[in-house]
Amino acid sequence: MAKAKKTAKKAPARKKPAAKKPQSLKVPVTLSVNGVDHELLIEPQRTLLDVLRTDLELTGAKHGCGVGECGSCTVLLDGAPVNSCLVLAVMCRGRQIETVEGLAIDGQLSPVQSSFIEHGAIQCGFCSPGMLLSSTALLRAKPHPGETEVREAISGNLCRCTGYQKIVEAVVAVGQEGAPEAAKEGE
Ligand code: FES
Ligand code: FES
Repeated sequence: MAKAKKTAKKAPARKKPAAKKPQSLKVPVTLSVNGVDHELLIEPQRTLLDVLRTDLELTGAKHGCGVGECGSCTVLLDGAPVNSCLVLAVMCRGRQIETVEGLAIDGQLSPVQSSFIEHGAIQCGFCSPGMLLSSTALLRAKPHPGETEVREAISGNLCRCTGYQKIVEAVVAVGQEGAPEAAKEGE
């Protein structure tokens, strides 16, 4: 007599454990931006550009290439222009950060901002914050720059619209009109 086949009991389907969200480690950082201290809790891998734009809502610095090629994210770090897309925010502890939002004082545009407007050096404006900060750093170091110095100073800032000539003229003109950028430093 044939034996009855044993049928294997199906094991009940196991519930997949819910995927654990990776814990994001945050660290406390105080960033000094345009003379104001901001106490933040941020992930250590975040860029200065991201923190400025997202956490501090300072959207003047632009996200262009994200890899250090275009200069649209330029800010000043201890007075020197840097690509903020390449700088970790946590590395800026104890340093002075300046963005385009800090150039105007009491509603008065800085001389180089006014000169950009007077010379028609702004078209779409995407490059303008970076151009203004690179120019500001130059004018502080060299109050009367020539065309070659200006071109060198803005060589890391790409502009798709103006052809650069009007930007160069605007910066040179500030130097020729008494370099108030430099004077402002000594006030
Ligand atoms: S966005 Fe930083 S260099 Fe282009
Ligand atoms: S004004 Fe448009 S990129 Fe420079």
